[in-house]
Amino acid sequence: MLPSSSSYSNGYLGNGSSSEKRLNTSTKDRFKRGGGGGIRVPSNKETPPPPCTEFDKAYFQSYSHVGIHEEMIKDRVRTDTYKAAIEQHHASIEGKVVVDVGCGTGILSIFCALAGAKRVYAIDASEIAIQANEVVKANKLSHKVIVLHGRVEDVEIPEGVDVIISEWMGYMLLYESMLGSVITARDRWLKPGGLILPSHATLYMAPVTHCDRYSESIDFWKNVYGIDMSAMLPLAKQCAFEEPSIETITGENVLTWPFVIKHVDCYTVTIRELESITARYRFTSMMQALFHGFAFWFDVEFSGPAIFPSNNQTQSLVGSTASSDIPSPGSSQRKKRAKCDEVLVLSTAPEEPPTHWQQTLLYFYEPIDVKQDQVIEGSVTMSQSKENARFLNLHLEYSSGGRSFVKESVLR
Ligand SMILES: C[S@@+](CC[C@H](N)C(=O)[O-])C[C@H]1O[C@@H](n2cnc3c(N)ncnc32)[C@H](O)[C@@H]1O
Repeated sequence: MLPSSSSYSNGYLGNGSSSEKRLNTSTKDRFKRGGGGGIRVPSNKETPPPPCTEFDKAYFQSYSHVGIHEEMIKDRVRTDTYKAAIEQHHASIEGKVVVDVGCGTGILSIFCALAGAKRVYAIDASEIAIQANEVVKANKLSHKVIVLHGRVEDVEIPEGVDVIISEWMGYMLLYESMLGSVITARDRWLKPGGLILPSHATLYMAPVTHCDRYSESIDFWKNVYGIDMSAMLPLAKQCAFEEPSIETITGENVLTWPFVIKHVDCYTVTIRELESITARYRFTSMMQALFHGFAFWFDVEFSGPAIFPSNNQTQSLVGSTASSDIPSPGSSQRKKRAKCDEVLVLSTAPEEPPTHWQQTLLYFYEPIDVKQDQVIEGSVTMSQSKENARFLNLHLEYSSGGRSFVKESVLR
C-alpha cells in the first residue's frame, strides 16, 4: 500500500522500496498523455482520503516508466512555459514553501528550489519519486526539496504552503482526473492568498474538416489493389472513429472560431464540479467544406489569484456550464485576461506550436457537407467514467442542415 508516514530523513519519505523494485521493467503501456483563497478543510484524519483503486495503482505504475517523463520534459512548449512561469513568479516563491503535486522526476520542484524556495515538498505516488529523490540529492538540494513518495491524498505535510505547482493536464484537459488531486492539495495545505501554478485552464472545441485523414482510413478500402473492399467500410469507420483520436491538426482544419466548453479557476474549482460537464454550443461555419468531426484542446494560464474583484463573481461569470454563461473567446472576460500581456499561457491550440498533448479529435462515421454560414449546434457532456474515474465518457449531440446525430465515446 501507499505510505503515509510523516517521518523523513535525507529529504526522502519513501515506502522502503529497494532500488531493484525501482528497476522493475515489467511496465505496462504508459498512461496516455500527450491536468484558493486557501480555505482549509478538516485534516485528512477527519475526512478519510478516497481509496487507492486498482486503476489508480495501474495509473501510478504507468508513471514509473522513464519514457513518459522523457516525452513530457522534451516537450519544450510545456517545460519552458513552466520554467518561465516559475521565473516570472519568483517573488512569490523566494523564501516560501512550495508543494509540487505529482513531481515526477522532480524537475518543477528543482526549478522552484533554484528560484529561491525555502522548502519544496515534491510529492508523487509513482515509483518515479525514488528517482526524483536521487536527482535532488545529485543536485545537492536535499536540504530544500523533500520528496514524499505517496498520494497527495494520503501524505502529511507539517506546515501550510505558499505555492502549489502541478502539471496535471491530460488530453481534453480533464483526462486522467489529476486536477482533483491539486484541489485536494489546495484545500489541505494552501495558505490564504497563496499562489497556484497554473492558475486557470480553458477547454475549447471547434468543428473540423480533415479529408486526408478520412481518405487514409476509410476511402482506402474502396479500391485495394484493384479490388472493391467497400464491404470493410462499416468496420473501418467503427475502428477508426469510435474512440477519440489524439493527433495533430493545424488551424487550416478548423471551420470556425472555437467555443469555450469549460473555464476552470484553480483557486475555486471543486472536485464535484469536474465529475460531469455539459455545454451547449453553436457554430457558424466560415466555409463550405466536409465537416468530419470536432477537435478539442486547452490552454492554461499562470496568473495570480486576484484577477477579478471577487472569487464569487469569477464563479458566477465563468464557472457555470450553461452555454449562455460561458464566455466566448471574444467576450469581455477573455479580453480582460488577454490585456495582461505578462500572463503566461501554455496553449495546445492547433494554430500554436505542437505539444505532446496534440489535439483530441472526435470523428463522425459520415462527414456532413456544410455550406458557408451554415449553423452547427448541439451539446457535449464529459463525465468521469464510473468504471475508472480517470477515463472520460463523452456524449456528443450535433445538428446541422436539418439532421441530428448523437455520438457516444470513451477516452480511455
Ligand atoms: C504529468 S506528470 C508530471 C510530472 C512532473 N511534474 C513534470 O512536470 O515533469 C504527473 C505526475 O503526477 C503523479 N500523480 C498523479 N496523481 C497523483 C496523486 N494523487 N498523488 C501523487 N502523485 C500523483 C503521477 O504519478 C505523475 O508522475
